[in-house]
Amino acid sequence: MKKLLMNTVERATRYMEEVESRRVAPAPEALARLAELKVSLPEHPTEPDHILALLDEIGSPATVTTTGGRYFGFVNGGALPAAVAANWLAAAWDQNAALAVMSPVAAALEEVALGWVIDLLGLPADCGGAVVTGATMANFTALAAARHAVLRRAGWDVEADGLFGAPPITVVVGAETHISLLKALALLGLGRSRVVTVPADGQGRMRAEAFPKLQGPSIVCVQAGNVNTGAFDPAVEICALAHEHGAWVHIDGAFGLWAAVSPSRAHLTRGFADADSWATDAHKWLNQVLVSFGDAETTRHVIAGLQTDGTCWCGGTVWQGQTAMRISVSSWATTEEDVERSLAAMLRIAGAVRAGRV
Ligand SMILES: Cc1ncc(COP(=O)(O)O)c(C=O)c1O
Repeated sequence: MKKLLMNTVERATRYMEEVESRRVAPAPEALARLAELKVSLPEHPTEPDHILALLDEIGSPATVTTTGGRYFGFVNGGALPAAVAANWLAAAWDQNAALAVMSPVAAALEEVALGWVIDLLGLPADCGGAVVTGATMANFTALAAARHAVLRRAGWDVEADGLFGAPPITVVVGAETHISLLKALALLGLGRSRVVTVPADGQGRMRAEAFPKLQGPSIVCVQAGNVNTGAFDPAVEICALAHEHGAWVHIDGAFGLWAAVSPSRAHLTRGFADADSWATDAHKWLNQVLVSFGDAETTRHVIAGLQTDGTCWCGGTVWQGQTAMRISVSSWATTEEDVERSLAAMLRIAGAVRAGRV
């Protein structure tokens, strides 16, 4: 067993040490080799060392190097060496963290981490919390609590009686709400399209003066940090208007709530603690940048060229009708040199696209 685990340490360490010199998106040859994994279900067990070698030799080159300093896609972040090390130990523990009785250490760690997050973000000290898989699931979980609470106030037990025949719930979102929040509403039976949409300004902030008059059970979804611009909804005004009508206010603060820990940015989170529930991510950082290279087709070509080139990785987006490249600077590993190398690649590829060479 020890030999196997030491072999794993060696392979994983080599991967991590080589991260800065790796392509960000895998090379076509690496992708082609994935076909070698497609074998029939073996009749007999395979040596663990062999499996490990296969994973490393075929799998490692086909990874997207998200842990390096030049991955700027999807507000992703990258694992710190300390997190990787703790994760290895956690894998050895192999705990089922469903209940404290099943894993006292997992329960204790969750409590400590949640307490720290509540403290750091300036949320009410008595609010409860849970660690879930990401902001999509956090939005889903908090909106399920919201659905329960507003219907209970209307005398309806949604867990027992479902949604058929329940008093209708008005759900308010901003015009630039994140797509994953609409997904959560769809999963909860609240509908992604039957929402009341508040118009947004040029930065994607809900316009408080256009907030609707609410009636009956209502849930208002407010955003701290727009994925394209980083803008914050006006929480002070929206929370006051929503609470005047007894609505539940939910905050999607996937990355924006972390502004609370930055002295120069904390003012952006004013009013967000007045809400009733919050979702946030621990793997996202502040700072979204959009770049246009002219018309939509040129911009799409530059993005595709950059992804193929492999120096760095950025995704595309459409912001208020305009196609753009999104740079999510979200990793502890990004250095000034990574920024310079990435900018040089962007300019080189944009030049090649304009000259018709790509
Ligand atoms: C504002 C916002 N909400 C929700 C999400 C979804 O987060 P996750 O990918 O952790 O599910 C994102 C992701 O970027 C986001 O920016």
